Amino acid sequence: MTKKELKKDLLKENGIEIWPEDKIKAFRQTLLQWYDDNKRDLPWRQTSDPYHIWVSEIMLQQTQVVTVIPYYNRFLETLPNIKDLAEASEETIIKLWEGLGYYSRVRNMKATAIQIMNDFNGVFPRNKKDILTLKGIGPYTAGAISSIAFNQTEPAVDGNVMRVMSRLFEIDLDIGKASSRKVFEALIDRLIDPDRPGDFNQALMDLGATICTPKNYDPSISPVKEFNASFVNESWEQYPIKAAKKAAREEEYVAVAIQNKVGEYAFVKRPSKGVLAGMWTYIMIDAQHVLDSGWKSFKKKQMDSTDLMTRVEDVLLKEYGLQVSVNELPKGEVTHVFSHIKWKMTVCEAMLIKEKQTLAPIEWIHPSDYDQHAFPMPTQKIQKLVSDITLF
Ligand code: ADE
Repeated sequence: MTKKELKKDLLKENGIEIWPEDKIKAFRQTLLQWYDDNKRDLPWRQTSDPYHIWVSEIMLQQTQVVTVIPYYNRFLETLPNIKDLAEASEETIIKLWEGLGYYSRVRNMKATAIQIMNDFNGVFPRNKKDILTLKGIGPYTAGAISSIAFNQTEPAVDGNVMRVMSRLFEIDLDIGKASSRKVFEALIDRLIDPDRPGDFNQALMDLGATICTPKNYDPSISPVKEFNASFVNESWEQYPIKAAKKAAREEEYVAVAIQNKVGEYAFVKRPSKGVLAGMWTYIMIDAQHVLDSGWKSFKKKQMDSTDLMTRVEDVLLKEYGLQVSVNELPKGEVTHVFSHIKWKMTVCEAMLIKEKQTLAPIEWIHPSDYDQHAFPMPTQKIQKLVSDITLF
């Protein structure tokens, strides 16, 4: 069986009936005309440099277009080519990514830049098979780069494109399931315009972002409404199919903002693996495990906050060698949701009395030097709460 036949089978097996050729052509034309008239003016659309497209695509996996634009411009001003990225320091790349989250992605990008320097003479590979060997680049990103930078007829299927296709064809596949992507790729393979593959993929992205939105969707204003089975059959509210996500696991911490006499705050580096690997946070005490029964009593309001403050002081002395005086608990509550974990942080302020011995490496940083460091979002949220007040 040829690849093409296999893909045809994949569509059939999943109850997707592909349109006749003239309808496919009409769809391409309608979609691309709409794109030409309405496309968003985005900085990565002024270039076909694969390095630039790559940077934009990785950033766009984490957040929305409006947030990405200044990050994208700053990244490329600082590191204009692959060699610059390969040679950049860890601090530089983390600072450029500060606030975007998923810091492993930018670390992977640096590793990939080194790989391109070593294995591809510093030239971004053109072949999709080679692109897929690059660290941190999966089928979606490889498809986006191949089509946008190299004009190759490759699908770029992410959650947004699956939403658009689910509605167009009334597809009953769970778009949250990894196995579904291949079916959607087979469908885009048939629909994609071989003359303008990059624009075709980006037109679907724009349609998904501006009209075929996850919420408040109105199919009657879509440029491709006549092609939309779920509009014609009035079934659009059922699509896409997406199983409810498991609720994020909740972790509770007491985050302590400890200030020393010269106004610096104590920060610790996260372990090199796991959530926010290698990033700076305030000292965070695992409330349920370390404070244990004291925390439970505090939450049930059976324990006075001053008793909990003493308990926090004990932990800081024992585990960090820091003798402190906690002076406000709680100062406030800060929540941060990662993809599968939710941090609930009860923030307190403390003054350093004495640094007894270094049990854990602590970095003392003055607020006036915060811009020299990269802090992840949960730390930034606490920084805002604590502000710059001097405790002494
Ligand atoms: N989302 C992901 N890639 C994009 C692109 N190239 N343009 C607009 N939105 C996107």
